[in-house]
Amino acid sequence: MRAVSVDDGGDRAGSRLVVLLSGPNLDLLGEREPEIYGRETLAEHVAAAVEEAGECGLVVEHHQTNHEGEMVELVHGARGRAAALIVNAGALTHYSWSLHDALATFDGVVVELHLSNPMAREPWRHTSVLAPVVDGTVAGFGGLGYRLAIRAVSEILSSDSPRRAARAGTASASAGGGK
Ligand code: DQA
Repeated sequence: MRAVSVDDGGDRAGSRLVVLLSGPNLDLLGEREPEIYGRETLAEHVAAAVEEAGECGLVVEHHQTNHEGEMVELVHGARGRAAALIVNAGALTHYSWSLHDALATFDGVVVELHLSNPMAREPWRHTSVLAPVVDGTVAGFGGLGYRLAIRAVSEILSSDSPRRAARAGTASASAGGGK
């Protein structure tokens, strides 16, 4: 597992912390099928997320793993500590019910993230088993998605967000997502 921790000034209360998780093969970004995933490295995407988060008053902690069980552990580790998870689970997206179940235990905001648009690719990528337990998905925007995901988290965490109200059980209508 590779981890990039960004100094959060000692504040682990959870209100500002966004845990960004990268799944299998994302450590090869830059070399891996660049015609699909682009030439930017994972480190560059993380740097963009950190920069965007800084503008939003958020702090990013990033982890990458090629192992399903470790991904589950990382979700467990975010529980009670982070305000949000942004998860690019790679191929785990399409079959990992253990990751689905782990995400369902997380109380904060969850954004599913993909560089490519899986819905426009092979049929087996059209199913996300994570989708029912995330607040929303950012897909198909390449590296821009990392910034968009941070922005989404920031908006949802703002006190007057309809999504936040819905999660608190104070809104009558669903704000989307299956959570
Ligand atoms: C991906 C899409 C997945 O289908 C694939 O298995 C990946 C990367 C993306 O970011 O586009 O590894 O999550």
